[in-house]
Amino acid sequence: MKSLSLLFLLLSMSCAQAQSFSLPALSHSYDAYGVIDSKTMEIHHSKHHQGYVKKLNKAIKEEALEKKSLVDLMLYASYRSKAIRNNSGGHYNHTLFWELLNPSKVKSTDEQVLKTTKSKLYTEIVNEFGSLEELKMKLNKAAATRFGSGWAWLVVTPQKKLAVTSSPNQDNPIMDVSEVRGIPILGIDVWEHAYYLKYQNKRGDYLSAIWSILDWSVVAEKYNSAIKDPLLLTIEKEHWPSLMGFHKVLAQTFHPAEKNDFEPLRKRSSELFAKAILLKTSEIPVPLMSPEILGALTRLEKQCGSLDKCVRKNAKNKTILKKIVMVHDTFHEIQGLCHN
Ligand SMILES: [Fe+2]
Repeated sequence: MKSLSLLFLLLSMSCAQAQSFSLPALSHSYDAYGVIDSKTMEIHHSKHHQGYVKKLNKAIKEEALEKKSLVDLMLYASYRSKAIRNNSGGHYNHTLFWELLNPSKVKSTDEQVLKTTKSKLYTEIVNEFGSLEELKMKLNKAAATRFGSGWAWLVVTPQKKLAVTSSPNQDNPIMDVSEVRGIPILGIDVWEHAYYLKYQNKRGDYLSAIWSILDWSVVAEKYNSAIKDPLLLTIEKEHWPSLMGFHKVLAQTFHPAEKNDFEPLRKRSSELFAKAILLKTSEIPVPLMSPEILGALTRLEKQCGSLDKCVRKNAKNKTILKKIVMVHDTFHEIQGLCHN
């Protein structure tokens, strides 16, 4: 059953022709999870997760993104609508969460389980955190201190290191909005819908209990897949905060100008120029370093400088539009080079 749900996820994540996403089946019946009561499991899976799937399918249809993989939808979350960001994350995060929960897991210690897997995960945990208990404490802390709704994560970073982080709402470390980037191999849902019926406001009690059904052999499998996954390289290439900073100001000035509203651009042309300078002098992700990128960044800076000069001279809208279109084209050229 578990391998079947994994197959569904992989198909929905990798198939470019996928038209819609579907709710994966759980490996156990709702009443089998012990530390999480049956009603919570039922509502969480059949209402909340199903809701994310439904809304995601609606959003990809409305936004003509049906051919994008789930990973693609999440990777470029900052460029997507709220509906895509929330529901792609909601679907991915919960699918991972269900796979990790196994009330019939092997009844030996988690250390023993990890040591018997064909994985270097246990060694990496000890190297990075000192012990499995230390890691659990770190994850519990990340989960307990996540304000409001969100997730705590153990991720494999692009440098193939382990890291603990947390994210708000349904965001996750695959997304370009995440501070710590990487492939999640363990996620703990800290939305109230995950525990409120049994634990009410006692998030800490839920976090202590969850470990008894969390299957580390699955985490080890996830680790083995993650360290070989080309997605790590993509994430490294995408992680360029200065590019995102530039894009934000560009989007907020270029799009109104396209619709004949030049006020935001006239007010913020110097800010856009400053962001272009910052981008040019920022640390370029190693896999992106190329003469083409450097050339495009130099051009972008010059174009933004020229645009700002025109605005200062109170040039006509027609002239300003021509300049911002050039900036926009160069930005997309850079983005294209990033995705190569
Ligand atoms: Fe949830």
